[in-house]
Amino acid sequence: MSENNIIVTTTPPEDAPPGASTTAETFVTIIADPPWGNSGQKGKYGAISHYDLMSIDRIAAMPVCDLAADNAHLYLWCYPAVRRIAEEVMEAWGFRFVDEFIWGKDQMGLGQYFRHAHETLLLGVKGSLPVTFRGQRSFAMLPRQAHSHKPEEVHVMVQRMSPGPYLELFARRPFPGFKVWGNEVDSDVSIPGYPVPSDPTTPSEVPHA
Ligand SMILES: C[S@@+](CC[C@H](N)C(=O)[O-])C[C@H]1O[C@@H](n2cnc3c(N)ncnc32)[C@H](O)[C@@H]1O
Repeated sequence: MSENNIIVTTTPPEDAPPGASTTAETFVTIIADPPWGNSGQKGKYGAISHYDLMSIDRIAAMPVCDLAADNAHLYLWCYPAVRRIAEEVMEAWGFRFVDEFIWGKDQMGLGQYFRHAHETLLLGVKGSLPVTFRGQRSFAMLPRQAHSHKPEEVHVMVQRMSPGPYLELFARRPFPGFKVWGNEVDSDVSIPGYPVPSDPTTPSEVPHA
């Protein structure tokens, strides 16, 4: 194949080793809402009918630590079935669990023991970073929207609690003041080994006719 036919892409291969982000930019505050691939999400009523899932190992191997500033906050969404796993993922990403916020829902959901009407937002700290607002309650009733759609009120809460720059991982829509990454959004960053459709490709040259 001649050089003229070669398409150069900056998208990292699936098996690229986790390493530094392709962007030199780091973020002081990160929100993440992973597509947890636990067994409960693979059934008839699971998230799998709404979006792709990722294995826990693959989520844990993401180089989120490299996207974070030396002193940073991580807000990680989870639900009861992955509550403990989420803390382990947080540690694998270089953050230590410090606290949690509960989103209370007005409708009863599914559950084998309790019928769940809440989701949990874990707060992790990398290095040392105090919150910028010390009056935030750890619980709020907030409206439900579409499946997995997290309340926009939480973005505003996070901006009050933690300094920017801000990044949302596994985002599905933009939010003012946040850079975003995910496979259903026009992503602002690339993550080695975790390609998404909007990753930049740089054709070196248009092939000759
Ligand atoms: C729990 S949802 C996020 C919901 C979002 N926080 C909201 O409020 O709408 C998880 C997202 O991760 C995306 N996702 C699944 N596999 C992915 C992958 N390999 N890379 C990037 N994003 C992925 C899903 O398509 C989905 O948009």
